[in-house]
Amino acid sequence: MPKLEDLIAQAKSEKGEGEEVIKIIGENKKHEDNVLVASYGDVKIYKVPGQDLLHYEIPVPRYLGEEKILITSLIDIATKVIETETETYKTSQQRRFAYRNKILDIINSTPELKVPPNSKEFYTDVVLKEMVGYGLIDDLIKDDNLEEIMIIGPGKPVYVFHRKYDMMTTNVVYYDDKDIKDLIDKIARNIGRRIDIQNPLLDARLPDGTRVNATIPPVSVNGSTLTLRKFREDPLTIIDLLNLKTMSLEIAAFLWLATDGFGAKPANILISGGTASGKTSTLNILSSFIPTNERVLTVEDTAELNLPLSHWIRFETRPPGMEGVGEE
Ligand SMILES: Nc1ncnc2c1ncn2[C@@H]1O[C@H](COP(=O)(O)OP(=O)(O)OP(=O)(O)O)[C@@H](O)[C@H]1O
Ligand SMILES: [Mg+2]
Repeated sequence: MPKLEDLIAQAKSEKGEGEEVIKIIGENKKHEDNVLVASYGDVKIYKVPGQDLLHYEIPVPRYLGEEKILITSLIDIATKVIETETETYKTSQQRRFAYRNKILDIINSTPELKVPPNSKEFYTDVVLKEMVGYGLIDDLIKDDNLEEIMIIGPGKPVYVFHRKYDMMTTNVVYYDDKDIKDLIDKIARNIGRRIDIQNPLLDARLPDGTRVNATIPPVSVNGSTLTLRKFREDPLTIIDLLNLKTMSLEIAAFLWLATDGFGAKPANILISGGTASGKTSTLNILSSFIPTNERVLTVEDTAELNLPLSHWIRFETRPPGMEGVGEE
């Protein structure tokens, strides 16, 4: 098995001379007039004068120029080192931990990369997130307060929808469409789907229930887009809707009657509405009125229902094969 030093030397020689990198840490320009509205963990939320939406900030690298070269070099080297190993890890946490140590080793044994001593941890995390996580938006995905994460193309801020503060801009920006496309490809690959010129739209679900929508040019004119809608850990119930006053007591009682049918006449119900208007949530909630002696079968384009039922059989439509046929 090749030694770490050899691999580093090899990666360095492939990179060529003169690509040494100096630090330009992802410190964001501070605007004096921004007012801090909230902060938790590494997150800071600002009111920016003249901007309707609040602004969400986390520590991120800028992924431009030399900083990008530094990160890509580190990823290259770390990938080479890790590819040669045969170890398997029981849990993803163990894998993360092992990778983290390896990346830190590489940074420590490669002074030519000129990673400043006080940023070693920062770059280790950046590389780790690229290798085993979702890269730049990894922290956004981990923030439970965010319901939706929206990448709308290169050179534009990533938008997020916060449970409390609604739609916000963030300081996360992809400068190169290829980086967005790479992330979309990675997500698609992980769940056995693909996106290309023939199939430029991806509508899928991650193993944890997160809903994924992605588009690539030429259908999305200003570059690739990716929207992640996170799965609610605690699904809404009819009581929540009543408390939120999004459904009246009378309508709730009527829909209960219609769904249950009292052994006599359960009704067909058609739920329709705009995107993210609450169709799936309403269906989920109504299913709790289905009597327990009923057998429930569901067919979905993208399996996302989370029904509070035990006798439940789920079907998901099959995407077409390579020849574009066989969709069922
Ligand atoms: N009655 C409600 N009150 C408050 N929030 C709601 C309500 N219904 C849905 N939501 C929230 O709105 C968001 C969108 O809901 P949902 O996924 O059910 O919409 P949808 O119409 O199925 O969307 P899509 O068209 O993308 O499938 C979710 O975050 C959900 O928790
Ligand atoms: Mg839905």
